Amino acid sequence: MQQLKGLGTSTSKSSRHLAVKVQNVVLQPRASTVPPSTSSSSIVNSWTEWQPLKEIIVGRCEMSCMMKTEPAFKAKLKEGHALSSSFGRRAAEAIEDGERELAEFINVLEGKFGVVCRRPEVIDWNMPIKTPDFEVPNGNTSSMPRDVLLTVGNEIVEATMSLRGRFFEYRCYRSLLNEYFERDPDFKWTSAPKPSMNDSMYRSDYLTSSMDRTELVSKRIYCTNETEPIWDAADIMRFGKDMFVLNSFTTNRKGYEWLKRHFNQRGLRVHFVDFPDDLAPMHIDTNFVPLNGNTIMLNPKRPPRPWLMRLLQENGWKTIVGTSNGLPVHPLSHCSEWLSCNVLSIDEKHVAVEAQETKMHELLSKNGFEPVLVPLRSIAQFGGAFHCCTADVRREGDLKSYFP
Ligand code: ARG
Repeated sequence: MQQLKGLGTSTSKSSRHLAVKVQNVVLQPRASTVPPSTSSSSIVNSWTEWQPLKEIIVGRCEMSCMMKTEPAFKAKLKEGHALSSSFGRRAAEAIEDGERELAEFINVLEGKFGVVCRRPEVIDWNMPIKTPDFEVPNGNTSSMPRDVLLTVGNEIVEATMSLRGRFFEYRCYRSLLNEYFERDPDFKWTSAPKPSMNDSMYRSDYLTSSMDRTELVSKRIYCTNETEPIWDAADIMRFGKDMFVLNSFTTNRKGYEWLKRHFNQRGLRVHFVDFPDDLAPMHIDTNFVPLNGNTIMLNPKRPPRPWLMRLLQENGWKTIVGTSNGLPVHPLSHCSEWLSCNVLSIDEKHVAVEAQETKMHELLSKNGFEPVLVPLRSIAQFGGAFHCCTADVRREGDLKSYFP
């Protein structure tokens, strides 16, 4: 009997497979001694950003590219930004540095915390991304799974995405998701409707608008419009029964509406948020960062609107103000110094944080956390830090409300 590729990668897994016939390949039936799968023994199960981490996808840098500037990307870049003129394969050295750091991060997660780390497939992004609606010269990266995959309980939803260069980014995670689908009978695998990403979805006059950026953003006018629903998975923060969705360059109101309908039907509450002081809003995970079930870290330069502060306070959340050493950001990164806040909670106490961000170490220690120092700076040029370069698969614990 032949096994499907990607199966039986670790001990005793094959005995847990359902008997399924895929393309004439029969998988091993579930052994009778193995108890039927319940939510607590499922592979995919993660409701929050902080419950004890058991399995995670860690991105990879190989074959990454710089995207050519396109409508929704240009607006994120500052004037004269190095990325706005270059595209194509990233430098071999950058890829090596990124991979070395990710390997070290994996060592810590696996070695110190026993977390299972899985990697996406190596895909060469240096090829044209072409659909009936657009064409761009190359794709992006497999290093930022958080942007693409949204795990909520037993479900992983592939985001619509919003940048053309990222249209097919889900492809590097497909073999992994297919494996989970085969191994975990409770895994719910969803793909959100792909937008056309044709010209009508972007405001071509955004950068030349007579309104300044502060006014545009405070009125929630972004470079993407409301033609079709769009959302990136990193615009969402998960708090058990509640989920917060950032309206940004990469997630529009229709995208929020799609998420709301989808997750309301699963009994969750979905909140719409924005941070008017973030002048290039793209991904929530440097602004609104829950560290455990009662403490959230906020960005000092991008505070929440008053209603959101009240909601946190009324529900007993302790808010701490994030900090940064202001280390220089790589010229080929579209991120800010606030990647310092892009930490990953391994459990309610341990938080993975950049080794050089000493102010953040102090802040976390002062508030009862144990910072786990890992060097992870070169990954910034690929688009993020600890939270961005990972995507949850399993965290221990059930669905709870943290906003009673
Ligand atoms: N917009 C953020 C900043 O530069 C970067 C967020 C990156 N997050 C991610 N999931 N890729 O401040």
